[in-house]
Amino acid sequence: MAIQRTFSILKPDVTRRNLTGAVNAKIEAAGLRIIAQKRVHMTRGQAETFYGVHKERPFFGELVEQMTAGPVVVQVLEGDDAIKRYRDVMGATNPEKADAGTIRKEFALNMGENSVHGSDAPETAALEIAQWFAGNELVG
Ligand code: RTP
Ligand code: MG
Repeated sequence: MAIQRTFSILKPDVTRRNLTGAVNAKIEAAGLRIIAQKRVHMTRGQAETFYGVHKERPFFGELVEQMTAGPVVVQVLEGDDAIKRYRDVMGATNPEKADAGTIRKEFALNMGENSVHGSDAPETAALEIAQWFAGNELVG
């Protein structure tokens, strides 16, 4: 598998509990390189755009509330098969179902406050990266 890039968010439950470094250590231990990173407080509009694919879902309002409740860390990760590799280390959306050793198993609080986001496909990764980073901010 070729070198690939994926978009990551460390969600507000991570920054609130001062776990940014702990989550980044899991990312790096999984063989992913953090090639861009910044801490931002998403506006409601930014969160609604970012999770627009879920806007008809019953949890959308709660999701936007949680994503704007505090600062997040947005990142671009690079590595071999990065999209799947990151989703594997993130673990299942519901932390109760996440495998041992995954980020969500170790750190997530519940389905909403589940610590991390990772892109699910190359097309979404490209769109998500472009929403948050200029090309010259990615330093591989
Ligand atoms: P993400 O997009 O954040 O990486 O998470 P994911 O692919 O594992 O899950 P997805 O289905 O895309 O859902 C996006 C986020 O919405 C929240 N969620 N809540 N209460 C619920 O039933 C529910 N379902 C999803 C989670 O925070 C999930 O990460
Ligand atoms: Mg998703």
